[in-house]
Amino acid sequence: MTGIQAGPSAPRTAGEVLARSREFFETRGLESPRMEAELLVGHAIGLDRLGLYLELDRPLDSKEMDTARDLVSRRGKGEPTAYLLGYREFYGRRFEVGPGVLIPRPETELLVDRARAIAEELEPQKVVGAFVAGVSDQPATPEERRITACDIGTGSGCIAITVALELALVRMLAIDICPDALAIAKVNAETLEVPKSRLGFKCGDGFEVVAKAAPKGVDLLLSNPPYIDIDDQTHIAGDVLEHEPRRALFSPKGDPDYWARLLMERRARLLTPRGRALVELGFDQAPRLEKLARDHGVEIQIHEDLNGIPRLLEFGH
Ligand SMILES: C[S@@+](CC[C@H](N)C(=O)[O-])C[C@H]1O[C@@H](n2cnc3c(N)ncnc32)[C@H](O)[C@@H]1O
Repeated sequence: MTGIQAGPSAPRTAGEVLARSREFFETRGLESPRMEAELLVGHAIGLDRLGLYLELDRPLDSKEMDTARDLVSRRGKGEPTAYLLGYREFYGRRFEVGPGVLIPRPETELLVDRARAIAEELEPQKVVGAFVAGVSDQPATPEERRITACDIGTGSGCIAITVALELALVRMLAIDICPDALAIAKVNAETLEVPKSRLGFKCGDGFEVVAKAAPKGVDLLLSNPPYIDIDDQTHIAGDVLEHEPRRALFSPKGDPDYWARLLMERRARLLTPRGRALVELGFDQAPRLEKLARDHGVEIQIHEDLNGIPRLLEFGH
């Protein structure tokens, strides 16, 4: 079964195609069958969800019908809607995504909220001179130098770009080890018109790049690192495992706490004296990191996401 059948009883109008697609997604057990049907059918005929509802009686031409049939069928086989559409919304903006880059998740918006709150608390730097090498060819003006930041594992750039757009005083370095991801992040920065003085990009290992680009540390260290244990994939949806990049999902060495632990252990080198780090966590990581922090006498905060899951680790210099 592919979803939208051809033949004499085939749906003709946008409303009929939508209804058929939604029913098909329900039989496939998708979490949001109605919304995904609206997005994909709308995409096939060049309409957003609202536009689609205004044109439910509109007949689809054969090209639109073929496109809708193809998208719905591929979704039914597990391809993520965001890859089929080519974008995902994050913090109210549209980010291009494609195979090779993680699809931004709504829970990651918490990290941006917290970064904004911290930035508001940071005193403007009295001594300017914290120019982050490699961010731009031009030294920043004093206004622009106030908050140095980096995003380790930027993927689509959703964190780095959003923070750079929301906070005019940030000078952000977006880092990813994967060149394909970084290429998409650069496209997103261009499309979303991030001022070049606020955001730069570097390909490489997060620790190495930060050590080189910001030897005195950064004021805001942001990261949603890979935190899934490769030996414990039971709670991960098949679609995710099959389609999203493994380097974005799985922690190194089968150790889900690898990034959070190392970032915490190396905090004095990575952060300026006033600096704060925000690291996204998997659903079961917090208790282990709380114990680690206690054992090492590190003060941390854990923030919960909207589902009450301890999602965000915060610590200072
Ligand atoms: C979980 S994804 C996060 C993507 C994006 N920041 C987001 O929140 O949607 C993790 C990212 O870390 C990158 N990555 C993995 N190992 C890395 C390393 N050693 N240094 C820098 N980036 C790394 C992956 O390529 C991937 O893009």
